[in-house]
Order: sequence, then structure tokens, then C-alpha cells
Amino acid sequence: MANSFHFPSYLQQRAALINTRLEQLCPPGSRLQQAMAYCLLAPGKRLRPVLTLAAGELVGGQLEQLMPGALAIEMVHAMSLVHDDLPAMDNDTLRRGRPTCHIAFDEATALLAGDALLAAAFGTLARAPGVQVGQAVQELSQAALAMCQGQSLDLLAEGREITAGELERIHSLKTGALLVAAARIGCLLGSGSALDLERLSTYAQAVGLAFQIIDDVLDATASTTELGKTAGKDQKAHKATFVTVHGVAAARRWAQAALAQAQAALAGYGPSAEPLRALGEYTVSRRR
Ligand code: IPE
Ligand code: IPE
Ligand code: MG
Ligand code: MG
Ligand code: MG
Repeated sequence: MANSFHFPSYLQQRAALINTRLEQLCPPGSRLQQAMAYCLLAPGKRLRPVLTLAAGELVGGQLEQLMPGALAIEMVHAMSLVHDDLPAMDNDTLRRGRPTCHIAFDEATALLAGDALLAAAFGTLARAPGVQVGQAVQELSQAALAMCQGQSLDLLAEGREITAGELERIHSLKTGALLVAAARIGCLLGSGSALDLERLSTYAQAVGLAFQIIDDVLDATASTTELGKTAGKDQKAHKATFVTVHGVAAARRWAQAALAQAQAALAGYGPSAEPLRALGEYTVSRRR
């Protein structure tokens, strides 16, 4: 289906807005503050905070209401990346086209930068206006816990044969949960209805799965330069991924099927859901 919505320019504009606000959260300061800024301001795609804003706007929220949720989500995401790259976890040296935090600083600082970003995320979200903030904080807490659980299962699965079902569960926990929280927090801060919340959760769950499947595909098919992170790591580390378990072609088909589910969840919305539809498409067609 031809899509008239131009997602690349939308993403660029929204990311610029988010980056300005993230910068304001990172005053120059101590070594720890420098490390936090290094991780948080590095050139990521900003897909999760863009999802928060798009979900919130779909249900009638204003950008200013939604922004604390978007920033908090990106802070938890940045934290998950710093820790994911540590030698004790995936042991990566390149992230977002730059040396990972523990390479640019040191391991202790990277650990603490992650801890501090997580703590700061909750403070940022708690300052959001509106009556739904308590529930939004709970959503963020659940998603961060699920992410940690998924990361633990991901590491335990290294070098082991696992079932397709187990793999899907790991992906939903380590990656899907934060995307679901991104959409739900946007919906809550934008005062969406229970039906909106349900539809957006179904959408984001499917987008989250597609997102991690394509991350697995890109690890196996794209270059380090394109990705800004070391390509081919999953096979080397004997990771359980959609590519190592199903192969590239089948993994792409799984991602397409998840995308179709995501789009179906938006069927009840009109043109106002175009940003979310395009975000879903981008998740599967992206090159980095
Ligand atoms: C990478 O996420 C980590 C995964 C959960 C797969 P992104 O691909 O969104 O990373 P950035 O934020 O653009 O760097
Ligand atoms: C990342 O999975 C999941 C989280 C960071 C929560 P990966 O380990 O595959 O992410 P990349 O490929 O290093 O970005
Ligand atoms: Mg990992
Ligand atoms: Mg990794
Ligand atoms: Mg990966």
C-alpha cells in the first residue's frame, strides 16, 4: 500500500525536538554526568520517544504533556544499551557510531551511568502533568523490570538450543516491553480511553517483536558502518536470535507477519494514525 506520509522527515523533526529536550537534561558537570550525556545524547534513532509522542497525539494529547514520558523512555533505553554493551553482557566496543561508554570512560562509570539514567528516568516521568502519572510510572517500572528479565534470559540462552516460543518470549521481554510502555505512557499522558490503551498495546507489542527480529536480521546482513555497532556479533557470541534459529528469510517473514498484526490493531483509526502506521513500516524496512 502506497503511503503518502513521509516518515523520514517526520522522524527527523521529532528526533530534533527530543534531542533539544534531552540536552537540557544533561548539564555539563562531573565525570558521571559526562558519561550520562555521552550515552543519552549519542545519535540514536529516537524511535521509542517518537512512539510515545505519536501514541499520545493520536488520542488527543499535546506535545508538552507527552514530552516527560518520551524523555523518560529514551533514558531507560539508553541505560539498557550501556549495560547491554558491558563486557559482562554483550561486550561491545561500538554503539551509535561511537566507542561504547565503558570504552570511552571505564566500566565502573558505565555501570553507574546506567544506574543514574534509570533513576533520572523516573524523576523525569514523575514531573509530567496530569492525573495518570502514577500509572505511567508503574508502566515504566514494569517495562524496565521486563527488560532486565529478558536480558537475563538472553544471556542464559547463549550457546543453547531454544524453542521458537522461548525466543519470542525473550524478544518480547528484552525489547517489546519498552516499546509497549512507550505507547501506553503516551496514551496515558494524552488521556486516551481504555480502548485506545488496548489497541495501542497490541500495536506496540507487535512492533516491538518486529523491531527485535529486524535487529537480529541487520546484525547478520548489514555492515558495521551502516549500523554504527559491530555487525555479525550474534553468531560469534552464539546468541539465540531469529536469524540463528529460523534463518534470515524466515526471520523477515516473521517480522512482516508481526507488522501486519500491528497495522490491524490500528484499523479503528483514520488518517490520524498515519504516523504510527509509518513507524511500523519503518521498523521493518529500516537499514540501521
Ligand atoms: C537497539 O535499539 C537495541 C535493541 C533493543 C534492539 P535501537 O536500534 O532503537 O537503538 P538506537 O536508539 O537507534 O541507537
Ligand atoms: C538489545 O538486544 C536489547 C536491549 C538493549 C534491551 P541486542 O543486544 O541485540 O541489542 P544490540 O544489537 O546490541 O543493539
Ligand atoms: Mg544483548
Ligand atoms: Mg547487544
Ligand atoms: Mg542486536
